Amino acid sequence: KPIVLSGCQPSGQLSIGNYIGALRQWVKMQTTHDCRFMLVDLHSITVRQDPAQLRSATLDGLALYMACGLDPEQSTLFVQSHVPEHAQLAWILNCYTQMGELNRMTQFKDKSDRHANNINAGLFTYPALMAADILLYQANEVPVGNDQKQHLELARDVATRFNNIYGDVFTIPEPHIPEVGARVMSLQDPTKKMSKSDDNPNNFIGLLEEPKKIEKKLKRAVTDSDEQARIYFDPTEKAGVSNLLSILSAATGRSIAELVPEYQDKMYGHLKKDTADAVVAMLEPIQERYRNYRENMDFLNEVMAKGAAKASAIAAPTLAKVYDAIGFVPRP
Ligand code: TYM
Repeated sequence: KPIVLSGCQPSGQLSIGNYIGALRQWVKMQTTHDCRFMLVDLHSITVRQDPAQLRSATLDGLALYMACGLDPEQSTLFVQSHVPEHAQLAWILNCYTQMGELNRMTQFKDKSDRHANNINAGLFTYPALMAADILLYQANEVPVGNDQKQHLELARDVATRFNNIYGDVFTIPEPHIPEVGARVMSLQDPTKKMSKSDDNPNNFIGLLEEPKKIEKKLKRAVTDSDEQARIYFDPTEKAGVSNLLSILSAATGRSIAELVPEYQDKMYGHLKKDTADAVVAMLEPIQERYRNYRENMDFLNEVMAKGAAKASAIAAPTLAKVYDAIGFVPRP
């Protein structure tokens, strides 16, 4: 079976963007692929986190992974900081990644604009850690949303460079990006992506949000000032409306081509209402399962312990192979 690896940052509540762009694909891949999914807490601290919040967001994330349908028997679910090889390989890959390459990363530019008072070295070298995450497991496929494409290309470039020097050490990973929902946009500014760490909570919908709030946020979602209020799919001309159509499509499983004729003579309010209903219906069963998992700390601990052990068993030999290739003397 092809090997899959992916993860989400526990830096706030997971959003419908994470679910539609990533998690939903993960769930589908479980039966056909050999899957590993983590909560990347090491990545989260590139932006300052409150310790108590980080701890609870990590456990929330794990419970949500399972509530969304990830099965800890079928897939390896783990917390990144539990497997020290991630940080170890990241250091090494830092030495094979060029400043110029990191400088071109659009997420670094975005985040350093948003966190101008904390542009730390970790934020800059973040893609080397992400490459380590992927290459440690010799992943063939990495299911992500569109915003991670550039990071993945860098991981491929670094792996190729390393292999060219030392021989076939790493598998070169392929991105796996969904056709619908690869880029769920912000509700108040549909020209930028929906982000769980957005300062304005009206921009995103969290997976744990109450139905009333979801309805309110979608009702207030920015559309446009087209006087005829036409509904059609065009992400540049009709960013807000197209975003709602994409969310509705993802939540109902119906294609945009099928939805457009049905809505073209209706009002924006109608589209918003139906989108809210569909999102609520999609999230209700997830929220219910989440509560059961989240209350059961013994079970969460068991999943984390097993997951970390399974992950380490694969990561450690890869790291040993890398150490040997580079010329480090083995620890006697
Ligand atoms: P993160 O935590 O920002 O997002 C997790 C996953 O959700 C996707 N995503 C979206 N998809 C569609 N629309 C959106 N608005 C949206 N927002 C987020 C992301 O593309 C991602 O797939 N660097 C990664 C985490 C990471 C990782 C890895 C991923 C660390 N190591 C190794 C894959 C493999 C990140 O910050 O994702």
